[in-house]
Amino acid sequence: MLEELSLHILDIGMNSLAAGAKNLEVIVIENSVRDWLIIRIRDDGRGMDEKTLGQVLNQNATTKRNRKKPIGLGLALLRQTSEMCGGTFHVHSTPGRGTSVTASMRLSHIDRPPLGDLNSTIIALCANPDVGVQLHYRTNDETFHFSSKEGKPYESRRTQEAQGKGATSGCAA
Ligand SMILES: Nc1ncnc2c1ncn2[C@@H]1O[C@H](COP(=O)(O)OP(=O)(O)O)[C@@H](O)[C@H]1O
Ligand SMILES: [Mg+2]
Repeated sequence: MLEELSLHILDIGMNSLAAGAKNLEVIVIENSVRDWLIIRIRDDGRGMDEKTLGQVLNQNATTKRNRKKPIGLGLALLRQTSEMCGGTFHVHSTPGRGTSVTASMRLSHIDRPPLGDLNSTIIALCANPDVGVQLHYRTNDETFHFSSKEGKPYESRRTQEAQGKGATSGCAA
């Protein structure tokens, strides 16, 4: 298990960049009322066919050739973390169109790693200016949105339920 969920997000996002994605979307939803945390990473990269997808999910396979052993760990580790923390793990992929990885877990689960440094993860994923990176981060009452193409720091906006209730907060990339 990785120590921070943002390190899982970095690994899964790097897979997207390696797959030639031009657009990468990271969605993080934390809901303490329903007690879940959902992470979704979506890309428009080259995708995987069913056979490859089955291999990478079941046998910790990799298509990266510069390895001594053909073992991939990014997807397998996130799957393990999700399932250990009372959640589920799904990958949908269409060759030539893209991939979507969704991991859920119980927010309050004692083994759930902290989110960690999501800012640094997003900054690292933005290294290639040709790739549009978006972050949607949502808690019970706040939503943050960042888009590398808009060239702005995080935008913060309260969700409708929270409007008029509390303070506005934000984080700078
Ligand atoms: N977003 C993606 N698009 C296309 N192929 C992917 C994607 N994510 C993973 N893969 C494929 O699954 C393999 C396993 O990924 P992963 O478990 O992260 O291990 P690793 O990155 O170490 O190879 C990759 O080598 C790649 O072939
Ligand atoms: Mg990987």
